[in-house]
Amino acid sequence: MQLNNNDRRMLKTMLSDPGRTWNLEQLLSETGWQDQVHIAGSGKSLESEGLVELEETRTRTVTLGPEGSRAVEDGLLESRIWNWVLGQEDSGRTIKDLNSAGFKKSETGPGIGLLKGLGVDIDSGKLVFSDEASISDEISRRSDFLSSLSSQPADVSSLDEKMVKHFSSRGGLLEFEDSVTRTWRLTKEATSIDDSSLSEIQMIGEITPEMLQTESWKDGQFKPFDVKAPAPTPFGGRRHPMQALIERIRSVFLEMGFSEIEGDFVQSAGWNMDALYIPQSHPARTMQDTFYLDEPSKLDLDQHYLDLWSKVHVSGHDTGSRGWGGSFDKEESRKALLRTHTTVNTVKHIAENSDTPCRVFGIGRVFRQETIDRTHMPEFHQIEGIIHEPDASLPMLISTLKTFYSKMGYPDVRVRPAYFPYTEPSAEVDIMWKGEWLELGGSGIFRPEVTEPLGTDWPVCAWGMGLERLAMLILGLDDIRQLYQPDLERLRKMPLL
Ligand code: PHE
Repeated sequence: MQLNNNDRRMLKTMLSDPGRTWNLEQLLSETGWQDQVHIAGSGKSLESEGLVELEETRTRTVTLGPEGSRAVEDGLLESRIWNWVLGQEDSGRTIKDLNSAGFKKSETGPGIGLLKGLGVDIDSGKLVFSDEASISDEISRRSDFLSSLSSQPADVSSLDEKMVKHFSSRGGLLEFEDSVTRTWRLTKEATSIDDSSLSEIQMIGEITPEMLQTESWKDGQFKPFDVKAPAPTPFGGRRHPMQALIERIRSVFLEMGFSEIEGDFVQSAGWNMDALYIPQSHPARTMQDTFYLDEPSKLDLDQHYLDLWSKVHVSGHDTGSRGWGGSFDKEESRKALLRTHTTVNTVKHIAENSDTPCRVFGIGRVFRQETIDRTHMPEFHQIEGIIHEPDASLPMLISTLKTFYSKMGYPDVRVRPAYFPYTEPSAEVDIMWKGEWLELGGSGIFRPEVTEPLGTDWPVCAWGMGLERLAMLILGLDDIRQLYQPDLERLRKMPLL
């Protein structure tokens, strides 16, 4: 039998204890090899000689995801709501009371859904149930299950299958990791091998310049490549997936003939909102939704625009509109804030280039007071764009968005009527993903109340889309925070764009 050096070394090592089942660590330490590639390679060739049996065991371990750890600390959502329910008088168990009981807005809906799944019914706004004990039982089983995972990873096969299934369908609670463990054992045939019967040959794994010069390769035996042999994955540097996605979007818009524009994070309420005909009393303008700055607290604004916005807001000026009525506070316009949308960039661009037709886009960060959860963050990105030209139209807007999303890999796009204070008509843009329509952003044609003060009569197609939502689809994430956590392990595994 002819074996190459490495195979021989592995065989010899194993023959030192012929009955043993070896794992990777044992073989590495006994052979003195640094790299598991040798074990995998020689293991394979010994296996094909009938000398070694290779066994692969696949295991799936589970640990708590970020939501899971939070649930262990603060209590599962259904458990917190259920405790609240039990603490109420019968008559106080209403959805209305629940909404004002200090739960987050994003919690009550899903929370009620979970309780319904446990046997709670809603009867004219009241939470009703018959079997309190079984609901409590199931909730504490769920809590115990999660707590049991908080100290260390567990093998999925050792866990309650139903619980695993239940929690897997809830985003961010559990994280799974698949691994393969390999063990090697000598076959009967191998144990009876006489070491001296093994002749040693040098197999050529790599051709060197010497071999070529001396032509020694002609008499050599070549080591076959096993392209399926397990090997470590080399990780080189790569762009952050979010940055890679931004680059891709950028190149799609450039390819479609658009130019890129930028703007500052700090803006005046005037350009961020008044220019967009957002009434000064609009709820989104309050401190609860918008980050206003202390320093600077005010920004200079061109009197020309302040006068025009004021007239348009109060009476419509000569835009054909009646305006919002009421009064307009120019000091309010001067307030400094962190831009809440990138639409501020496109309106400023129109003001500065009112008689030049343009197609421009921008990808930028925006800021809103949001409670952080699976799908919300106080900082996120928008993909903004406009077409400002004499023949701009709604069909042009829709076909542009369709082209953009097709190029991104989502050919099914639909628009639905919507409302924004600054566009008419307005449309919500959805894309088809895994058989479902997902909302990705807003769009429309700017109203004359917006365009006339900017100095143009041409129609403007405008849109503003969420970037993170698209990133989650493309990268297959169920939690927006995963994009920003410095978890190299996870980032490495995200698909290359
Ligand atoms: N600015 C809107 C948002 O932040 C999106 C939008 C942009 C809507 C342009 C219409 C026109 O959601």
